[in-house]
Amino acid sequence: MVKSGKQMLMGGTLAMIIMAAPVWAHDEHSHGAGDHANLKDERKALSLEPSERAMILLEMRQFLNGIQIMADALSSDDLKTVAQAAKPLGSQAAHEVPDSLKAKLPKEFKQLAFAVHGGFDQLAMDAESLGDTKHTQKQLADILQSCVNCHNLFQIHAAK
Ligand code: HEC
Repeated sequence: MVKSGKQMLMGGTLAMIIMAAPVWAHDEHSHGAGDHANLKDERKALSLEPSERAMILLEMRQFLNGIQIMADALSSDDLKTVAQAAKPLGSQAAHEVPDSLKAKLPKEFKQLAFAVHGGFDQLAMDAESLGDTKHTQKQLADILQSCVNCHNLFQIHAAK
């Protein structure tokens, strides 16, 4: 019997979930509660002035805030609102970071930050010019991948 396209798609999705499972198994959240006492934060620690740390964390909360607005607007195909929320998170925000702080950030950190800001620029432009919800959702998912990658690599300590 020839499988229908839908069945094959479901089979593919299932295969992806099964393939992803070993990754989850290594995730810190899948340990038993007792293991948490021994959990080490192995992310590289950046040591910054308290005001620099506050500035970066504020920007992070603005990312999350903007993404919440975008997710909501995408659910009603309101790509104008998506573009409005994405624009301030683009490279215009990166230009507000002082050179003294930029100098302290590792190359990999800056590359991931650049990918996120550039991603929001492109997302805003495409949301306006194409008006294609699925396309914008995919761009948002790709941006979120850079968020995830950076969070897996770095933490920020306030230098005293
Ligand atoms: C270049 C690296 C990098 C990128 C890219 C990045 N983050 Fe962060 N983010 C961090 C670091 C480092 C912290 C602090 C983690 C710590 O010290 O434990 C953080 C913290 C946060 C916090 C907590 C803020 C607070 O007030 O404590 C939120 C929310 C957050 N990020 C959201 C996002 C979102 C959403 C994205 C993607 C749009 C993103 N971040 C992209 C590095 C990054």
